[in-house]
Parts: sequence; structure tokens; C-alpha cells
Amino acid sequence: MSFLSVRGVKKAFGPAVAVQDFSLDAERGEFVSLLGPSGCGKTTVLRMIAGFEKPDAGSVVIDGEDVTHLPTRARRIGMVFQSYALFPNLTVEGNIAFGLKVAGVAKAEIAARVKEMLELIGLPKLGGRYPVELSGGQQQRVALARAIAIRPRILLLDEPLSALDAKIRVSLREELRAIQRELGITAIFVTHDQEEALALSHRVVVMSAGWVEQIGTPPEVYHTPRTPFVATFVGTANVLPCRIEDVAGRLSFHGAPLALDHALTGVTGGEAMMALRPEAIALAPFEGATNRLDATVRDVTFLGPVARVRVVLAGEIEALVDLHGEATRILPEPGSASVLYFRPESLQLLDRRDRAG
Ligand SMILES: Nc1ncnc2c1ncn2[C@@H]1O[C@H](COP(=O)(O)OP(=O)(O)OP(=O)(O)O)[C@@H](O)[C@H]1O
Ligand SMILES: [Mg+2]
Repeated sequence: MSFLSVRGVKKAFGPAVAVQDFSLDAERGEFVSLLGPSGCGKTTVLRMIAGFEKPDAGSVVIDGEDVTHLPTRARRIGMVFQSYALFPNLTVEGNIAFGLKVAGVAKAEIAARVKEMLELIGLPKLGGRYPVELSGGQQQRVALARAIAIRPRILLLDEPLSALDAKIRVSLREELRAIQRELGITAIFVTHDQEEALALSHRVVVMSAGWVEQIGTPPEVYHTPRTPFVATFVGTANVLPCRIEDVAGRLSFHGAPLALDHALTGVTGGEAMMALRPEAIALAPFEGATNRLDATVRDVTFLGPVARVRVVLAGEIEALVDLHGEATRILPEPGSASVLYFRPESLQLLDRRDRAG
């Protein structure tokens, strides 16, 4: 039995459905990100786990206890929000101690816990400061310390890094990951930043328009996206039409034969969509690159380590090719004929369903 089990949860606000059908099982100590564009329902899911919002259907179970109808305070949950939301009239120590006082923890125990938390977030000397005397990154560390001081069963984080500037964001996300792994705390983290989700998580839930598109490890959602939405939202992908020729995994693109690296089950043929990452394609033959497509080069953008080549395939369909390293020394000429080479395992057949449609 998983530590957190969210089952078939739905939420509408009037006629607008914010969350269509959300299910997730998270293990104890797991770090799971909810990733998706603005308005796809991430915060609403988090608020239902926290108990700030009542689901219209479904259930939330934490450590075997059905908490669907319990108030927030009875769920033992720690939360960190995008805005720092510290109590401005309390010092750093006062903020961290707040939840412990409410819970009636003994004074000596509170002092010890606050000290431990200040060490953990790397601010052992700043306990006496007020929030206005801290930088954004420091305030967010204190918010994290306040959330975990109460030893919550689950830590919920709603875009906690998004108000910070780029450099602090990256260093704080590494700290956050280290603290989460060290404490072994189960965390659900909301973000619309794919890099953040990939860097932090054991698993990522990709959402769009209130639906779960795919749940998987970062390499799974990146390398084997199931829908056109996931393929294009997580990284860059060419999403191309194709025909399924047979169950052995043979496809075609405008008559040109292509192969997958696996046989198909439950598919009889017909029109489909496939994804192909720009970095999986080369403009020269290489080991294992048995798939080929004729193309015409449209334009080339040289970016240093990468050169991004826009090509036109049969049927006037555009695709992107990323050349790396040595391959960027001699760039193809716009207008020239070219051939795309890629391996069977780089081709990913997509579900026809695209809920973001
Ligand atoms: N209290 C509310 N009343 C009415 N509509 C709401 C309410 N809360 C959220 N919504 C709507 O539900 C949908 C999902 O909102 P939610 O805040 O969960 O999105 P999100 O994925 O967190 O987006 P963002 O990345 O912008 O924070 C949106 O269309 C939003 O306008
Ligand atoms: Mg939100």
C-alpha cells in the first residue's frame, strides 16, 4: 500500500472543471512533481491533498488513513507557497516555532527543533531576524523550515522557487532536494518549469487541462512520452504523422519506410502520430541509425554547442534537427538536400488521444 493515495479526485468551480480525474500513488520518501501549464489544475490538486478544497469525487488516503473529509489541521501536512508567506511580526525563530507552539510541543523541545531546523537550512545565525531583513531565498528557506519543523507526514510545495531569480533558484532547488532526501520526507511539488521537475523528482505527473497526461520517472516522460502534449511540453519534439504498417513495428512517413525498436500490441494499423527528438537525429549516417528520411534544409541557427537546423520533409512538414559538438563545424546550406538519420529506439509512437487537443 502506498503512503499517499489520491484516487479519482475531481473538482469543478461552477461550470468550469479544474481537475477532471486525478489519481496518484506516492511511496514514503518519494518526491513527486506535478508539472503542467498555467491553469491545468496543479494547485487545485495540492489544495485537495492539503484539505483546503473538498473534492467533488474521489478520495485522499495518507498512510492508510482516509483523510478526504478531515480538516487541514488534522492531516499533519507541511506547506510552502510561492509567496514567502512568513509571519512578518515574528522573527525567524518565531516563524519556525509557530506550528510547534500550536501543537503544544514543550518549550525545550521547540528550542531544540528550531536550532536543528536553522542548521538544516544553513542559517544558524539568523534566528533573531525578521522576514523583512532576509533575502527572498533566505525567506523561502525559513518557509521550508517552518513547514518541516512540525514533522509533517507530507510536504506540499506550490511553486516555492518561482519568485526567485535564476541563480538562487537552481542552488535552492539543489538544497531542497538534499533536505528532502536526507529527511526521507514524502513531497509533492508543483511547478510549470520542466527543468525543475526533471531535476528534483523521483517521478513527474504531467498534467494538461485538468487531466493527467502521463506519470513516470524523468527519463521515462522525456524519452517515452505517451501523448503529443507530453512530447512537446517536456523538452522539444518533432510530432509527425505516420502510418502503422504492421504489428512488427514497421511504420511509414509519406511512403518512406521507418521502424520502431519494438513490436506493437493491440494495434492493427492506420494513421498515427510519432515523436522524434531533434537531438536524436543526425545529418550523416551513424551506428544503428537505420531510419532515414529525405529533407531539404530551410535554415540553420548556430548557438555554440548546438546548431538548430530547420528542415522540410515530404508533405511540406517541418522538423527540427539539433547538431552537437563536432557536427556543428560544417553547417548545412539552406536550400540543400539532406537526409535525416536516426535509430529505431528514437521513434516514439504516441497515443492518438491528446487531451490538450
Ligand atoms: N476558487 C476558484 N474559483 C473558481 N475557479 C478556480 C478557483 N481555483 C482555481 N480555479 C480555476 O481552476 C483552474 C485550475 O486552477 P489551478 O490554480 O489549479 O491551476 P494551476 O495549474 O495551479 O495554474 P498556475 O500554474 O497558473 O498556478 C483554472 O482555470 C482556475 O481559474
Ligand atoms: Mg498554481
